[in-house]
Amino acid sequence: MGHAVLVDPADFYSGIVVDAYARLKSNSFDADRYRDFVVAHGEPALELGCGDGQPLLDLCAEGLEVEGVDSSADMLERCRENALRRGIQVRLHHQRVEDLHLERRYESIYFAGPTFTLLPDDRTARRALKAIWRHLVDDGRALIPLWVPSPTPEEELGVCRSDDDGLGVEVRYTPLSEKTDPVSRTRVTSSRYERVTATDHQVAEREWIIHWQTPSSFRRACAESGLDVVELIDDGTGSAVTDDSTEFTATVCRGPER
Ligand SMILES: C[S@@+](CC[C@H](N)C(=O)[O-])C[C@H]1O[C@@H](n2cnc3c(N)ncnc32)[C@H](O)[C@@H]1O
Repeated sequence: MGHAVLVDPADFYSGIVVDAYARLKSNSFDADRYRDFVVAHGEPALELGCGDGQPLLDLCAEGLEVEGVDSSADMLERCRENALRRGIQVRLHHQRVEDLHLERRYESIYFAGPTFTLLPDDRTARRALKAIWRHLVDDGRALIPLWVPSPTPEEELGVCRSDDDGLGVEVRYTPLSEKTDPVSRTRVTSSRYERVTATDHQVAEREWIIHWQTPSSFRRACAESGLDVVELIDDGTGSAVTDDSTEFTATVCRGPER
């Protein structure tokens, strides 16, 4: 067995986790929502936390000018391979969202899915919002999907999900234990990833941190970062959020400079 290594949250998707994530992920990203956003608010656009290119590459394939940013070199390498395989040109940046420092500003900036909740604390979340402020054109818009997680059901802890590619490589994911702190709005799931072949067994241990926002904590973070919240919509009802909303999407724009 390989060594288990605990890593910085921004480096979660590295090493054997990249392939395991791609093969085991349950959510597929609906390109329509992000295409509609970019078409409505303009190009160039920037996808934050683009990973291996879903939905980024679909939008590029349609001729939209969208660039991608990710903190994981391994995810970006896979994105480049996917782009090459599909004959798509794409501009990628290896940076952390909270430290974003690009040469241009964008009409549209979006996270595809609730990647914003991977930013592990309020300070990092505010730095990311400030970075979005810096990279939006004056009348630009950013789309930020958010998620308030439930605890992982007790009966799922310790239970492995796996995928065998039929070519002798099996990947496995097992959530081992979990702690939730409602004060810091943080759920930490200690997880194990494995890659098993006939001759090798690699293991990576990761703390999967979800640092969630409520509608009011998100509004506060935006206010402190110079962003105005244009709308905050419950993904389930399509109406304005309530205190009970658990999946909702913010559209934000630049407020006055402070
Ligand atoms: C859940 S994955 C989604 C990726 C992509 N939408 C996909 O499935 O193809 C989240 C991505 O965000 C990236 N990420 C996490 N923290 C980040 C940070 N602080 N700055 C930039 N990217 C980050 C991860 O490396 C990962 O690729």
